[in-house]
Amino acid sequence: QHVHYYATIDSTQNKCQELAKAGAPEGTLVVADEQVGGKGRLGRVWHSPPGAGISMSLLLRPALELQKCPQLTLLTAVAIVETFREFCGIGAQIKWPNDILIDGKKVCGILTELNAESDRIHFLIIGMGLNVNTLPEQFPEEVREVATSLRIAKGETLRRVPIIQQILFRLEELYELYLEEGFAPVKKRWERCAITIGKKVTIRMLQGALSGYAEGIDDTGVLLVRQEDGVLTKVYSADVEI
Ligand code: BTN
Repeated sequence: QHVHYYATIDSTQNKCQELAKAGAPEGTLVVADEQVGGKGRLGRVWHSPPGAGISMSLLLRPALELQKCPQLTLLTAVAIVETFREFCGIGAQIKWPNDILIDGKKVCGILTELNAESDRIHFLIIGMGLNVNTLPEQFPEEVREVATSLRIAKGETLRRVPIIQQILFRLEELYELYLEEGFAPVKKRWERCAITIGKKVTIRMLQGALSGYAEGIDDTGVLLVRQEDGVLTKVYSADVEI
């Protein structure tokens, strides 16, 4: 009863944010067939042409400290990769922090936006953008080489509603596990899905780039990168090249 569907919308993130501010309950979901102002990370544009993808934003109201927020993005990525693998029969991996790749190309992005005061989360909105039936020519030229869809990977069209149901089902299961047992069991499942860990990576941040060996994530979901001089750097948010 908390699902809001739109054929066209600017961004499901904005709508979900509006509902959250008006007191909508945890679990409220905004889904759209087409977004005309889809938002990506770092101020980028997210293209969501009609009929092709899944664009949805989920409202959560966890009683958590602010610094735990990235864990929920990682949790969401696990729910999506496990759905691709076990429900769609398509192998996919997570590239830290929140890109989902098939054969090295991006099939899904996650954008978590948060509303907090001092150290407490009021609510957070997890936006998921999945390329489901997108054809290569539907991607904007600048991402065509680096983007893919479930249809391209599987060679057939997929129904979107059952995929949405599966993702939400797994997300709920993982979220309950997380609230009961903390991040450790989620982290284990995340590590099984991740390609970043154990690899040489280049990190591009606003402040500049650094290269090193991705050792893992810590208990808050931060990426740990060991540089050649032995220094261990915590990376909170960045673009990672493998
Ligand atoms: C990224 O990889 O940069 C994140 C992309 C997130 C896109 C989704 S689509 C649903 C939700 N609404 C938005 O405007 N953005 C997110």
